[in-house]
Amino acid sequence: MVAIHYEFQKEVSSSIGDIPKPKQNYLIPTIFLICLMATFALVALYFYHNEELLPSYLGSRKRGNNYKRLVCYYNFPSSTNDLQPEHIDAHLCTHIIVAFLNVNATHELGVTESQTEVLKRVNTLKHKNQDLKVLISVGGAGNTQGWSEMVHNHTTRKRFIKSVRIFLKNNTLDGIDLDWEYPNTLGVNNMEKIHFTQLMEEFRMHIDRNTFKFLLSVAVPSSSFRVDISYQVNYLNQFPDFVNLMSYDYHFFSNFTPFTGLNAPLLRSSLDSGIFASLNINDSIVYYKEKGMDKSKINIGLPTYGHTFTLFNQYNNGLYSPARGYGYIGNKGFASYTDICTFLKNDRVQRYFDSTTRSPYATKGLEWMSFKIITVYHLRPNL
Ligand SMILES: *[C@@H]1O[C@H](CO)[C@@H](O)[C@H](O)[C@H]1NC(C)=O
Ligand SMILES: *[C@@H]1O[C@H](CO)[C@@H](O)[C@H](O)[C@H]1NC(C)=O
Ligand SMILES: *[C@@H]1O[C@H](CO)[C@@H](O)[C@H](O)[C@H]1NC(C)=O
Ligand SMILES: *[C@@H]1O[C@H](CO)[C@@H](O)[C@H](O)[C@H]1NC(C)=O
Repeated sequence: MVAIHYEFQKEVSSSIGDIPKPKQNYLIPTIFLICLMATFALVALYFYHNEELLPSYLGSRKRGNNYKRLVCYYNFPSSTNDLQPEHIDAHLCTHIIVAFLNVNATHELGVTESQTEVLKRVNTLKHKNQDLKVLISVGGAGNTQGWSEMVHNHTTRKRFIKSVRIFLKNNTLDGIDLDWEYPNTLGVNNMEKIHFTQLMEEFRMHIDRNTFKFLLSVAVPSSSFRVDISYQVNYLNQFPDFVNLMSYDYHFFSNFTPFTGLNAPLLRSSLDSGIFASLNINDSIVYYKEKGMDKSKINIGLPTYGHTFTLFNQYNNGLYSPARGYGYIGNKGFASYTDICTFLKNDRVQRYFDSTTRSPYATKGLEWMSFKIITVYHLRPNL
């Protein structure tokens, strides 16, 4: 079983959301991140044995199999206002996964010319950091197009794998992240689960047989319910080089969950009960471990975006307080890193730190925001 020990730059002891935290101690170590804009959708961290990860990871990365991974997703910029490849700190991450490409109608890697151009620009970051790995991600939330058909039989899978290898090799890229959300989406096609395993296995065999080597990763869900429907965890452990746990979006506003909650709580809160009890990063990891996942394969996903809510009553503003909609900040409650920084600068914002879940949140009037700034914590697995 996993017991994660959490250490903080400055520990704040308060009970669930009652005590406003007057000074933003936990923001201080994050300043170096501010140059990173919202398009870094998340940063996934990998914790190896008892080594401390943050903030020392920048200076103490090891080579070989024992090195620490800090895997960052970078979305293709959709305008010049978005973070451009040249502005990414080449030393911040060990791996950059550029998202998202498609599976196309002929069961091959679908990539446009402008995406290829962006990938080339990301790749030039290697001039500054020759250890950097650049991967592509295929799929993404809501982009299930082509997957079912592609995994369907050996011929189509082979076609896909070959197209990936050619593209990676031709563009000197380092790997692929499979982000099909999700095999057997509706739970009525159990064969898809097996077909996905076959895809991973055939990727592995293909990589082993060819002289051009590349990394294989898979983005995996945090909910045990979804894991059971979509994946064979023992094979997820066997074939990819690592998996990226999508350990975020545990709570957000919806008509079914009209109350406040944390985007990525590290631990269970005493207020979490019933189906909400396992909605935290620790429980997700414990679940994967119980199903046979090796801890060394898991990258914990840490969102750099937040979720906002509109409260019913500004004085009832703790966790699980009634909410009547998304907050006014962000897009459908998704607040970007820049939105978060702007909100937190406002003097009237009250910040709280929930010590049980190790998570900050902030509120002003009826606006309620869950955010996470990655350098808040200092984690050490203790197995
Ligand atoms: C799919 O992508 C491949 C390259 O990976 C390309 O050669 C092929 O023409 C594309 N098919 C369609 C239907 O766009
Ligand atoms: C493989 O699947 C594709 C579509 O997913 C289909 O067009 C093709 O006929 C299948 N081939 C075999 C040998 O079953
Ligand atoms: C390989 O890359 C070169 C240069 O980027 C490009 O011109 C060419 O079309 C690519 N070939 C394939 C098969 O993708
Ligand atoms: C992590 O979750 C497991 C399973 O629910 C639990 O037994 C364990 O106490 C949790 N660890 C911490 C540090 O809370």
